[in-house]
Amino acid sequence: MEPKSTDISLVKEIDETKQGDVFFQEQLAGKKADKHFYIESYGCAMNFSDSEIVASILGEIGYAPTKEISESDLILINTCSIREKAEETVRKRLRIFDKVKRKKPGTLVGVLGCMAERLKSKLLEQEKLVDLVIGPDAYRSLPQLVAEATEGEKGVNVLLSREETYADINPVRLQSNGVTAFISIMRGCDNMCSFCIVPFTRGRERSREPFSIVAEATELFNKGFREVTLLGQNVDSFLWKNPETGKEINFARLLEMVALVHPDLRVRFSTSHPKDITDEVLHMIAQYENICNYIHLPVQSGNSRILKLMNRTYDRNWYKERVDAIYRIIPDCAISSDMIAGFCSETEEEHKDTLSIIEYAKYSMSYMFFYSERPGTLAAKKYEDDIPLKTKKRRLSEIIDIQMRVSLEHNKKDIGQTYKILIEGNSKKSEFDYKGRNSQNKMVIFPKVEGLNPGDYCYVEITDATSVTLKGLCVENK
Ligand code: SAH
Ligand code: SF4
Ligand code: F3S
Repeated sequence: MEPKSTDISLVKEIDETKQGDVFFQEQLAGKKADKHFYIESYGCAMNFSDSEIVASILGEIGYAPTKEISESDLILINTCSIREKAEETVRKRLRIFDKVKRKKPGTLVGVLGCMAERLKSKLLEQEKLVDLVIGPDAYRSLPQLVAEATEGEKGVNVLLSREETYADINPVRLQSNGVTAFISIMRGCDNMCSFCIVPFTRGRERSREPFSIVAEATELFNKGFREVTLLGQNVDSFLWKNPETGKEINFARLLEMVALVHPDLRVRFSTSHPKDITDEVLHMIAQYENICNYIHLPVQSGNSRILKLMNRTYDRNWYKERVDAIYRIIPDCAISSDMIAGFCSETEEEHKDTLSIIEYAKYSMSYMFFYSERPGTLAAKKYEDDIPLKTKKRRLSEIIDIQMRVSLEHNKKDIGQTYKILIEGNSKKSEFDYKGRNSQNKMVIFPKVEGLNPGDYCYVEITDATSVTLKGLCVENK
């Protein structure tokens, strides 16, 4: 089984319902567009969120989004470098764009995001069709670079910033279902996990001004949205200092500020780092019904020696203690994880520690990968990528097998329980069913009931479960 790529699924699940299309059209209504851009996004939710910022910046110069690539004057691809395969996918898409460009000369092609940042102007040499290369902190230069590219001048801006948070930009919700949205609360990462390219592609960590976050959440709520996910590579280290008063706002306080926007606005967040998640945050989650009881707490490995090599700065016992604290303070919390199989020098015994941590933490689900060496990272410089691909894949499939079993057990326990569900739209398989999530972030499918619409809450009794979804019947409307 091919492992799912982290966080992509978060976004892919927001599939293009009819309602989403309506929302997309409404945002365009009344805006006169001279030109169109088409954008594809890969990688984590941060990238999808950035594409919405890009859409806003392009809107200012008369470019409207289109879902038809053949209609576009500007094709953009927001890229990911996290694993080699992510970059291969992007190169394949560029081959396709080449064909479109041949049919419609003058179409511009731009590479945005992490691959743009990693490869910089090398991308222009490697991929002849590319006209623009723009890194994650340089999207404000899009108007100028697009204008220059229209005149035939290729452009690159990959400057990283210590301040840029795009706080003042009002994102255009591109793939929206009109119910759930992402809000970027910080950028970059200061952690330097040895396997990870993100600190190199996204630069230093910085937190966004919290009142602009609350304003964005409020605006979304007023437009009918009922759930926001606060995004950052390490949300627990969110810290903003008021330059005038010196007063600090940490992640727990930010959670509270967003939860107070409205009791009907659900608040989620991703990603938490085991070294930074505090009891203060856990108590805040327990205190507010609308802060969801779900924590994505990537372990990466269950073995202390490997965790040290990974530079994760916690060990197995520390991680177990954090899991214990979560279940103590928020008894019905679901925890999910990311795991990497076959990191440099990992032995069979050490791999087994990852298998056993799945059982210990009782993850509701996980994103699972085999190690992919990334040029320039600490691990690439210091350690040999010495686990054969075959072994990496076998270990990964063992991790997936155990996780599937643990997920099934987790979901089976929900049978007979009644959960408050936020309806997101039609189920993928049937227009007679709705899909929605409970607080624990589990997808629940249930037959439609008259009078209920996407964006409404309802109570669903769970009648059946697989390792990935719950099924049920609506028992009561809100
Ligand atoms: N900030 C998040 C993770 C962001 S990257 C965190 O600290 O947990 C998403 C996931 O991709 C990581 O959690 C890790 O499991 C995986 N990943 C990162 N680099 C990788 C690599 N070189 N090979 C395989 N998986 C990797
Ligand atoms: Fe990468 Fe580690 Fe930062 Fe996550 S915390 S983005 S894994 S360096
Ligand atoms: Fe990929 Fe960049 Fe996100 S490398 S996972 S898109 S921060």
